[in-house]
Amino acid sequence: MADTTVVDVKLSDTLCHGAQKHGMTREEVFRYYDNWADRYDKDLFDLNYGGPRQCAEALAEVLSGNKTARILDVAAGTGLCAMELIKLGYTNLDAIDGSQGMLDIAKSRNLYHRYICDFLGPRRLDIEDDHYDAIACCGSFSQGHLKDDCLPELIRIVKPGGLICITMREEFLYTVEAYKDKLEPAMMALEEKGSWEQVARDIVPKYYRQLDGITFIYRVLA
Ligand SMILES: C[S@@+](CC[C@H](N)C(=O)[O-])C[C@H]1O[C@@H](n2cnc3c(N)ncnc32)[C@H](O)[C@@H]1O
Repeated sequence: MADTTVVDVKLSDTLCHGAQKHGMTREEVFRYYDNWADRYDKDLFDLNYGGPRQCAEALAEVLSGNKTARILDVAAGTGLCAMELIKLGYTNLDAIDGSQGMLDIAKSRNLYHRYICDFLGPRRLDIEDDHYDAIACCGSFSQGHLKDDCLPELIRIVKPGGLICITMREEFLYTVEAYKDKLEPAMMALEEKGSWEQVARDIVPKYYRQLDGITFIYRVLA
């Protein structure tokens, strides 16, 4: 029995790493998630993935009880973060993700009002200005996934005074080429421009297996 568990965790870890292979195109990333969607939750459970709960709790804390807040779950996947937000009483949720397979699992759980299959990058989304009170974004800043080029668009669709909560693996800030000396400087540049202000930058222990995560919370200004 113990052996089976070790084998299970090894396979889950391998599948998780498969989504982050260097040099994957955006289409390859989404195809990978489409194929992985059916067992994604089981694998992430085996890997003690605490991110969705940690992200939801951090956002709930700054939303200060506004349970009707309209929240977009960015790169929502199968809806793990929404499940945590719902437990905390936040039910006015939409999802966006580039993988239809992942969104189909979320849809089967009836978690969101709107399911948007689209990719986030330096391009306009089919969402009006100032539409959301908040964004939750968990586990989606990773090798080959979201980059800082989508941040201005996230800011555009959140109301002034609204909140953006990003939780990711902390080491990725230093080990992922696209983020090293780029992601936090880009966040700071948006702050200097007056687009948003930092509310929190917290290290989150045991985000994934024994590894730390980091949660950034920003308040949108303009
Ligand atoms: C590790 S999963 C995280 C899913 C969910 N937030 C969670 O915590 O379980 C990463 C998700 O990001 C999505 N994704 C990656 N790059 C994306 C992009 N540029 N635009 C939209 N979705 C993207 C993938 O399709 C996948 O569902």
